[in-house]
Amino acid sequence: MDGKERIARDLEEARRRTVRLLRPLDDEQLTTQHDPLMSPPVWDYAHVGAFEELWLVRALSGAPVLDDDLLRVYDAIETPRVVRRHRRLLDRAETESYLARVRRRALALLEEVDLGSDDPLLRGGFVYDLVVQHEQQHDETILQTIQLTPGRYLEELPPLPAAQPRPHDMVEVAGGTYPIGTDLHEPYDNEHPRHLVELSPYAIDRFLVTNGEYLAFMEDGGYRRRELWSAEGWEWNQTFGTGAPEYWFRRGSTWLTTCFGCEVPVDPRLPVMHVCFFEAEAYARWAGKRLPTEFEWEVAAGWDPDRGRQRRYPWGEDPPTPARANLDQRLFRPAPVGAFPKGASALGCEQMLGDVWEWTSSDFRPYPGFVAYPYREYSEPFFGDQFKVLRGGSWATRPGVARVSFRNWDSRLRRQIFAGFRCAVDGS
Ligand code: AVJ
Ligand code: FE
Repeated sequence: MDGKERIARDLEEARRRTVRLLRPLDDEQLTTQHDPLMSPPVWDYAHVGAFEELWLVRALSGAPVLDDDLLRVYDAIETPRVVRRHRRLLDRAETESYLARVRRRALALLEEVDLGSDDPLLRGGFVYDLVVQHEQQHDETILQTIQLTPGRYLEELPPLPAAQPRPHDMVEVAGGTYPIGTDLHEPYDNEHPRHLVELSPYAIDRFLVTNGEYLAFMEDGGYRRRELWSAEGWEWNQTFGTGAPEYWFRRGSTWLTTCFGCEVPVDPRLPVMHVCFFEAEAYARWAGKRLPTEFEWEVAAGWDPDRGRQRRYPWGEDPPTPARANLDQRLFRPAPVGAFPKGASALGCEQMLGDVWEWTSSDFRPYPGFVAYPYREYSEPFFGDQFKVLRGGSWATRPGVARVSFRNWDSRLRRQIFAGFRCAVDGS
């Protein structure tokens, strides 16, 4: 397929998903900010269009934007999440007409540009991939917002795949020098450049930590035992901790959870989700383990010992499919641990992509030789010790942004993200 046709199809496909996610929301749900942490969904809706206008119209042609004020309101830095409810936002119809106008201009310009040019923005469709992946990421953000919005979003939850019970053992990884990151055309700067990292031997859980295992931690007094928590974690636990993951509640002696408006019993076979970094860290200590670093995670997910290189996906170079990973907003929750043996990494870890984002012990920092490009505000302002790296993607991640080298980040107390974890230990 011609590169321009592929790009037009990707842009269209990304938009179709955004529209489909927002369609079931009424105007109230679409425009109300239910939590200061999250935007009203209608903000994300117009924001993806403003981003498209900036990068696929203004950056490529120098043409003025349709409305400067509008661009300011939909700029994530100029209008941070906490104040989004105080700004006059476009309603659904206004947003849709704005999105359509931007798309027409972007497609007209796509006809004219030279994708073989020396301009790194254009070469190979680089900036178009950036815009597509940006919208795909906002689709996951929109789902986080919907999950905390009152109301029934789903009539019922889709059925889960089956899994054979298998022992929750650990995978041993030899110490050595491993390549981390990528030099391929990934549009996000924080994955670049590929560089070598020295790792001591370690072992890492083959499977994600399950609800059943997490319940054992809770029942063993995990939330009451000071010695299991870091100093900041304990402070978080005392100030905000609810003694259970977010969205869990108890009826009699049964734990239930609310999932897109459906109440379901907590399924012990599923990976635990909606825990913050501090909870993951306390669990790991309780289990006599620790969280993996992001490099340990990346090697366990991608290392191919036969070829001596990192794979793009745990199973190889072919794109994700429903048999390999729980991605793409199909199941609306993680699948049972062990449900994707076909998606195992060469070293034997399962469900490394999809199901839940995985907390790592690593601060979000630039790789050696990092260059902020082209979207300078994407990563650079967030480097430092305020954010921890999450890896792997969740059930709500679109396949276009799921890969071994992808780095996500959030602050240690966030629980609305679709995040869980697996543990590691030092090896010998
Ligand atoms: C990578 C998920 C932390 O939502 O803040 C979207 C992604 N950046 N638009 C975020 C992002 C700009 C980012 N995270
Ligand atoms: Fe954004």
